[in-house]
Amino acid sequence: MQDLLNSIRIIGDPILRQKCRPLVFPDDVPYIIDLARRMGNALDVAEGLGLAAPQVGESVRLFIATPDHLDELCGHVVFINPEITPYGEMEKREEGCLSVPGIYEMLSRQSRVRIKAMDIRGNTFSLDVGELAARLILHEVDHLDGILFVDKLSPIKRKLLKGRLRKLREDRLRK
Ligand code: NI
Repeated sequence: MQDLLNSIRIIGDPILRQKCRPLVFPDDVPYIIDLARRMGNALDVAEGLGLAAPQVGESVRLFIATPDHLDELCGHVVFINPEITPYGEMEKREEGCLSVPGIYEMLSRQSRVRIKAMDIRGNTFSLDVGELAARLILHEVDHLDGILFVDKLSPIKRKLLKGRLRKLREDRLRK
C-alpha cells in the first residue's frame, strides 16, 4: 500500500515537467494494460479523482479517472491520447494534486470541455462535459504537457506558496 503511495512523483521531479509522448496501437497495448492497472491501484490507495501517467513516472499520454462520482464520464476510466476543446465561462473551483500534496487552491478555468480520446482497446470515444468532470480533464491533460495546477495560480498566490512548494521539493530529494 505505502509503496504505491510512494510511487507517486512529487513536484520537483523532472518527469512531471516533460511533454508526454502519444501511445501507439497496437504496439503499446501490453504496456498500456499494465500501466492502467498500476495507476488504478495507486489511485485507489491515494483516494484521488484522477491520475496522469507522468505522476507514476511514465511519460505517455494517458490518464485515468474514477467515474463513480462523475456521471458525465459515462463510465470511462482510461483516457489515451486525449484531444480537448475547452469552452464556456471561466469558473473558479478548488484544485489539488497528488503530486503537490497538502496544497489546495481556487483556480479559474473554462467550465466545459469536449474531449476525444481512446480507450484501452484503442476505440475512440467523445464526451462533452462540465463541472467537476471538465475540471478533472483539464487538470489531467495539463499533466501530459508538463503543467501543474500551481503554475496557473496568480503571481501573488504563487509567491505566498513559494516556501511550501520549496519544502515539497526538498522533502522529495531527502526520500
Ligand atoms: Ni494532478
